[in-house]
Amino acid sequence: MKTRYNNCDIVMGNLEITMMDHTRDFSFLESIKEVTGYILFAINEFSRLPLDHLRIIRGSTLYEDQYALAVMANYQRDGEHGLQELGLTHLTEIFSGGVKIIQNKYLSYAPQVNWLDIVKDGTAQIIIEDNGPEKPCHKACGDVPCWGPGNDTCQILTKTVCAPQCSDRCFGRNPSECCHVECAGGCTGPKDTDCFACRNFNNSGSCVPQCPQTVIYNKLTYRMEPNPNAKYQYGSICVTQCPICHGTSWTDSSRETVDARNIESFINCTKIQGSLNFLVTGIEGDPFNNVPPLDPEKLKIFNTVEEITDFLNIQSWPASMSDLSVFSNLQTIRGRKRYKSYALLVVKINSLTSLGLRSLQNINNGAVYIKGNKNLCYHDTVNWTRLLGSRPQKHSKLLAITNNQKKDECVKENHVCHPLCSSDGCWGPGPDQCVSCKKYSRGGTCVPDCMFLTGKQREFATKSGECLPCHPECKVQEGKETCTGPGANNCLACASLKDGPHCVSICPEGVMGQEGAIFKYPDMRGNCKPCHNNCI
Ligand SMILES: *[C@@H]1O[C@H](CO)[C@@H](O)[C@H](O)[C@H]1NC(C)=O
Ligand SMILES: *[C@@H]1O[C@H](CO)[C@@H](O)[C@H](O)[C@H]1NC(C)=O
Ligand SMILES: *[C@@H]1O[C@H](CO)[C@@H](O)[C@H](O)[C@H]1NC(C)=O
Ligand SMILES: *[C@@H]1O[C@H](CO)[C@@H](O)[C@H](O)[C@H]1NC(C)=O
Repeated sequence: MKTRYNNCDIVMGNLEITMMDHTRDFSFLESIKEVTGYILFAINEFSRLPLDHLRIIRGSTLYEDQYALAVMANYQRDGEHGLQELGLTHLTEIFSGGVKIIQNKYLSYAPQVNWLDIVKDGTAQIIIEDNGPEKPCHKACGDVPCWGPGNDTCQILTKTVCAPQCSDRCFGRNPSECCHVECAGGCTGPKDTDCFACRNFNNSGSCVPQCPQTVIYNKLTYRMEPNPNAKYQYGSICVTQCPICHGTSWTDSSRETVDARNIESFINCTKIQGSLNFLVTGIEGDPFNNVPPLDPEKLKIFNTVEEITDFLNIQSWPASMSDLSVFSNLQTIRGRKRYKSYALLVVKINSLTSLGLRSLQNINNGAVYIKGNKNLCYHDTVNWTRLLGSRPQKHSKLLAITNNQKKDECVKENHVCHPLCSSDGCWGPGPDQCVSCKKYSRGGTCVPDCMFLTGKQREFATKSGECLPCHPECKVQEGKETCTGPGANNCLACASLKDGPHCVSICPEGVMGQEGAIFKYPDMRGNCKPCHNNCI
């Protein structure tokens, strides 16, 4: 607990302390300023807790569904120890929920505290019963209530003493001494940087209603653009980077086969940290070890895999599957560890007519072994040299590709690349298995032409020949191209309005800009013009 709470500012969740004897040292709780859930102290024997920096209990979860602060039965059964002071001398706001302080035999100050100044919700339950005899405050407090006998335990009032002009809390009794609306618990001055704590978010010291957004409107370019100062919400703090990020990956022992028992553990994997083996005991099952056969449909789980860091070893495959297209999104085999010297092995799979590895771009290390697949075609149209990249070794030594279907047999059976494929070859039949296209492609499939002049959804072509849709705000043209690129600023004409060079459906209305919100109206020609400065 000490390592976890040392120097901790904000407890995300609840703080529960129960059944602690009077000898415990709780000084490691000193730094806590805020608890997002509730606080519970019950059946403890210590006399005071050092929670003097605590300013706010948010009460996002409540004890017994009602209380943000619950202090109950903190005294020794047959002895003189027990809670005497709450020690929450700087607590000024409870956002949600009430207070229950009961049966603390030696606690003498809780009833004196002005709880209405602290609790935000006027209807919240405040139950303070069966505690110790009430004792007087230090005379330094005057008529202000207190948390204990010391001259430094007078309650800091921030609500009930405010001028009626203040919407919430204040730092003095004058109408000019209201806190900023984004403050919580009180403040030392009127600005959003003077708050004790923040109602919503703390953006490096300023209290703000939201963290700087990832996109903001740029007045010069007339568009929403990435905000270089964007931050993310982490609890009640704006942070430039998310503290923890986990991807999905799987670490294996490199000899085990994928089988009916373990295949579910690969759901949603994009990167296999290790290798994948498909052996006969996995595909057909292993009665000796009580493993049933693998349902071929389940192999589709591998559709999400983009990278394998070690090797892919296929020595068995369902007889109903004629390709490896469950790996159609696999881009990279790193070959950090290899099977013998190989990063990719496909051995004696008679059901295979094509590999179907249409996304495979790189094999960074290790060799390729594709042997004895007697019906396999198409594999020799692929430029394997390009996949292997620059290597010190001779590429011909890295390619063990023999004893598959003979090339002239493949041609005779019409197992040849689709006519829309370029001369770079293909991974299988059909226009979606081409390594690259003769002319144009759409969504990974080769097509004879883009929808330049026809169709409801008009297109343009990228430099690499990919057909992409025009922006929905472009006005469809007859007899000429509708757009020259993907953006709302690449249209020949707009379907509705125009903001600077961009086609838009509505003019910017209250979108965030560099200096506050921006409002525009459409003029007679449908161009967005800024509202006059004097408009509110
Ligand atoms: C509080 O009491 C201590 C001594 O117990 C004294 O040094 C300090 O000045 C007092 N502070 C106030 C505000 O009276
Ligand atoms: C806001 O966070 C900073 C640390 O980034 C801290 O020093 C400051 O006290 C916090 N302000 C409020 C009002 O919580
Ligand atoms: C996989 O991802 C989908 C979509 O993100 C999600 O709905 C599903 O729960 C995930 N499955 C597992 C087992 O993580
Ligand atoms: C295969 O690709 C490499 C590198 O891109 C290139 O040098 C070679 O000429 C290509 N081979 C064939 C047969 O196209």
